[in-house]
Amino acid sequence: MAGNWKMYKTPAETIAFFDKFRPLVAQSNHCEIVICPPFTNLAAAVESARGLPIGIGAQNIGWAKEGAFTGEVSGSMIRALGASHAIVGHSERRQYFAETDGTVLKRTQAALEFELTPIVCVGERLEERETGRTEELLVTQFQNGIAGLSESQFARIVIAYEPVWAIGTGKTATPEIAADAHRVIRSQVRAKFGRAAGDSVRILYGGSVKPDNVKSLMAQPEIDGVLVGGASLDPVSFASIVNF
Ligand code: 13P
Repeated sequence: MAGNWKMYKTPAETIAFFDKFRPLVAQSNHCEIVICPPFTNLAAAVESARGLPIGIGAQNIGWAKEGAFTGEVSGSMIRALGASHAIVGHSERRQYFAETDGTVLKRTQAALEFELTPIVCVGERLEERETGRTEELLVTQFQNGIAGLSESQFARIVIAYEPVWAIGTGKTATPEIAADAHRVIRSQVRAKFGRAAGDSVRILYGGSVKPDNVKSLMAQPEIDGVLVGGASLDPVSFASIVNF
């Protein structure tokens, strides 16, 4: 159960979040919890989650170890802060910052190189859904991105299916729509990396997940977890999603 805070919260607000969140998930051993704050809050989040089974992730990752890449933050830097995960290829990065399937692959490989678990995001825009091209888009994103990994690299990633039309809009994909998309992704995984990889890869759903719809989404066997934006900013609401 992962939270993506996007461009919200200061370090002080991060500490305040964890002070409230910690007791609410103290018994939540049924799942893995990951919170991805902005880079500037990673140190505060790692410190706040110390000793707890809560992973901390970045929201992006540079593909080089270091170098003249103004504005980028590398995997070795993220790792040095004690983070364990990195979101890669979020649709907002694709939409506003020219992220492509090619750069998504490079960032995914960088995360793996620095022993961070990449949460690789895919998903169609409204236009693709409305013109019946959802499957085609998911296949393209897979083939041009994730399919470039080796089998052993693939075994260490998490995939997040986030239909762009459902992000921040209050329009959740129905559990059936989400499960259909997860099946498309899983069949791509099986074809490329084998049946066992297809069975074991974790695929999260993201897009307007809230405390009142998480249960029906998680009831789908295809959906292994959720990637939550807005509703992960509040400790009570994110804890109730974690404890669905
Ligand atoms: P919302 O939950 O705010 O729709 O955001 C989803 C998302 O983009 C998570 O990465």
